[in-house]
Amino acid sequence: MAANTLTIRDNRTGKEVEFPIESGTEGPPVVAVEKFYKEFGLFTLDPGFRSTASCKSKITFIDGEAGVLLYRGYPIEQLAESSSFAEVCYLLLYGELPNQDQYNDFVHKVTHHTMLHEQILNFYKGYRRDAHPMAIMVGVVGALSAFYHDSLDVHNPRHREISAFRLISKIPTIAAASYKYSVGQPFVYPDNGKGYVENFLYMLFSVPCAKYTISPVLVRAMRQIMILHADHEQNASTSTVRLAGSSQANPFAAASAGIGALWGPAHGGANEEVLSMLHEIGSVERVGEYIKRAKDPKDPFRLMGFGHRVYKNYDPRARILKKAAHDVLVELGRGNDPMFKLAMELERIAQEDEYFVTKKLYPNVDFYSGIIQSAIGIPTNMFTVIFAVARMVGWVAQWKEMIEYGEGIGRPRQLYVGAARRDYLFMNERK
Ligand code: ACO
Repeated sequence: MAANTLTIRDNRTGKEVEFPIESGTEGPPVVAVEKFYKEFGLFTLDPGFRSTASCKSKITFIDGEAGVLLYRGYPIEQLAESSSFAEVCYLLLYGELPNQDQYNDFVHKVTHHTMLHEQILNFYKGYRRDAHPMAIMVGVVGALSAFYHDSLDVHNPRHREISAFRLISKIPTIAAASYKYSVGQPFVYPDNGKGYVENFLYMLFSVPCAKYTISPVLVRAMRQIMILHADHEQNASTSTVRLAGSSQANPFAAASAGIGALWGPAHGGANEEVLSMLHEIGSVERVGEYIKRAKDPKDPFRLMGFGHRVYKNYDPRARILKKAAHDVLVELGRGNDPMFKLAMELERIAQEDEYFVTKKLYPNVDFYSGIIQSAIGIPTNMFTVIFAVARMVGWVAQWKEMIEYGEGIGRPRQLYVGAARRDYLFMNERK
């Protein structure tokens, strides 16, 4: 029996088969089960992918038990402290930090794809003014494929490259326009003299009638939010992008599918829910009541911003954003902000509570990001949009990797538990 194998025995027949165990650079090894069905005539069942790796990837590594997050091997703490968002984009896409020339060239290319085809702006008028901006994002990003026909051949590396730049460069412009439309302000065109994050904030908040300025502390916090959200290995939206892309659908369609998956409150929508929850709790005195509700198995209420499928330790991104939230509030002269105090008290009580301790439920990235964004002046319904803007590079990097590895179409199997074969009944034969 080879050492690096797992032997599985079918007790019905006595057949034993060895399956190879493959090790990665970091993290637990995997058992490769592609031939499982061929050998045993059985599928494996793992709803929610709790024990199943869907692909090999070189992009992002998470150790959920230790609370570690690495992009291409670099710790998230170091990138959040020292890197620009454009540099992180380059790293995620190409695997290495850029030298100065590579960086300048990359920034130049990203900057010069920021404008939208003017006709795309007509799309916005088709939406109701009160449309959720994520609904607009799903539609407009998918619609890019109708405008950029020259870069849709997923087998052509040059097309993939151009599409990647288009998606990463235009997503802030699309997102800012969705906000401007909802508040009835004119669209703001990108300013190519500004950095990626600064330009995004400028398109969100500037108006033609006033001079626009923003504090570097707020830009830094937003840069950190964007870096921390840029990728997170095979989460629901990234897996959706990879699966949609595996059918060789164009990258704009795949990215639009990812935005749809991100929208849900169990994923990217949680930061919106965190703020609603904090408003609902209202004061430190009511924290106990809500902790009690979160623990009650009969109550569907969950403490939003707590828990994570992978992190069973403090989410490293939450730690960085807790500090950033404090810095932003001090900068804005709101060091005693009641919402921040309430959040810290909620965290303190939850972390002492046996339920949360034994289930390893720690604050996740969404817990503090909503407080920062709200202090910067971003409305709650834009939080998930900001997440989508930041995550676009992760989706694109993972999509490119999947195509470059030549993975075939993703097609899970199932355990069918529906009706067995039966014959059609004519209407007069039915009960
Ligand atoms: N509040 C109360 N109880 C919780 C919470 C919570 N936030 N999260 C998990 N639990 C409980 C579950 O009820 C479960 O209890 P049980 O063992 O008695 O059945 C136990 O903890 C284990 O949780 P799971 O449901 O197995 O965790 P799972 O991996 O399925 O879910 C999830 C993770 C969806 C993130 C969950 O923790 C949750 O709903 N959190 C709140 C929403 C949230 O903050 N989402 C953001 C995730 S981060 C991101 O997407 C960027």
